[in-house]
Amino acid sequence: MIRRSKQIRVPPECSVLFVCLGNICRSPTAEAVFRATAERAGILSALDVDSAGIGDWHVGQPPDRRAIATAHRRGYDLTRLRGRQVTAEDFDRFHWIFAMDQPNLRALEALRPATYAGHLGLFLGMAPGPAVREVPDPYYGGAEGFDHVLDLIEEASEALVAQLRTRIPPW
Ligand code: 4NP
Repeated sequence: MIRRSKQIRVPPECSVLFVCLGNICRSPTAEAVFRATAERAGILSALDVDSAGIGDWHVGQPPDRRAIATAHRRGYDLTRLRGRQVTAEDFDRFHWIFAMDQPNLRALEALRPATYAGHLGLFLGMAPGPAVREVPDPYYGGAEGFDHVLDLIEEASEALVAQLRTRIPPW
């Protein structure tokens, strides 16, 4: 979870939150990959990006070392991210809230205020390619699961950046 340092106002539709169960494998990976993808596209400074977990088991902890290592091999740095739990206030701050799988989405729908007017959905719902709709939980599996997670997240991040760059004001 890295706070934006630049003090420009972020339009609500340019705020993005990634959510998984523990906030130590999939959603921090999504946060870092999406940041890097947005940076390459030149739009990161116009975005507010964060990640969070449904559960509180890993609050304050760095991501899983397997997620850090797999991401590092592809050039992404997860080491400064720290776990936090999603809150009802996240619905005030984020226009785009992306769940990694259906159970995450159901938990978020239970938290969602009736007045929330943003987009709450599956992250892979943004990607045209993958036939799968969920980013599978790699926590109890082997190393190859983390590579698969990265493949899916890289594709969805490209698709999301392509969507958002049409909405960024020209400052
Ligand atoms: P994540 O993976 O939701 O992708 O961060 C998990 C991390 C921890 C646990 C489950 C999933 N856990 O049960 O502690």
